[in-house]
Amino acid sequence: MWPILTSALSLKRMYETATGKMQEYYDGEINHIAKKIDKNDYVLSLGCGYGREMRMLYEMGFQNVYGIDNNYIMLFYGHYEYLKDLPIKEYLFYGDICNMPFVPNRWDWVICIQNGLFVIGGNKLDVIRNAILMARKGVIFTTFDDTILEERKRHIEENNEYGQLVDILPDGTTMLDFRPPVEVYTEERFKRLFEHVCKRDEIKGVGLTIEHSNGAIYFILGEENGATSNNNRTTEQHEATRKEHD
Ligand SMILES: C[S@@+](CC[C@H](N)C(=O)[O-])C[C@H]1O[C@@H](n2cnc3c(N)ncnc32)[C@H](O)[C@@H]1O
Repeated sequence: MWPILTSALSLKRMYETATGKMQEYYDGEINHIAKKIDKNDYVLSLGCGYGREMRMLYEMGFQNVYGIDNNYIMLFYGHYEYLKDLPIKEYLFYGDICNMPFVPNRWDWVICIQNGLFVIGGNKLDVIRNAILMARKGVIFTTFDDTILEERKRHIEENNEYGQLVDILPDGTTMLDFRPPVEVYTEERFKRLFEHVCKRDEIKGVGLTIEHSNGAIYFILGEENGATSNNNRTTEQHEATRKEHD
């Protein structure tokens, strides 16, 4: 039915064939994030693919879930098939997250899951900076930890039916064949990047919390004493900004 949509179908197949630890990891990631956000929050997913996390969050009651991706195939499949029965199919946007037109505080949460920060080929410092500036409550980057590296690699090898998704080695040198080399990142590496961005761009008052669960690592950026509002504007002021830019 969808003969050319290999990248989207391959990615979808990864999620559908997951069992055991891998399934816990994939589902756990969204459940973990869902506990941090409020039902009315505006959420932007960077590198949203065909909208998997958007659908999962929507079905959990989060209706303001948006996504941006630079792969037309993913977005096409998301809009015309995967999300076609939901209003959020209109919330899929094309764009390069390294070079985003962004509006300060436009979103409550900006998320970038599934090792997204290191899947992209561009300047990671700019992605972190823009995400912080765009988010009113917080930013969540996720990657996977050592406990599932081997299983993840095996799962991907076994399900690489379309030959498009060749992913992740523990030393970080493998390729997705439609994108630049993919790396994984450690806690130390992320901390260094985050500190560098704060210093370079003079970002103050934003703290980093790191959490682990079901094979995933969560890098949560928010107000230094917990991931809440990173500025003093009121909800009404934020709503006005959103309307202005919609
Ligand atoms: C591992 S997939 C994750 C997709 C989705 N978040 C999920 O969990 O199912 C990473 C996504 O990042 C997108 N991507 C890579 N580089 C990007 C960039 N520079 N700008 C926007 N999206 C990008 C890819 O097209 C791909 O859909």
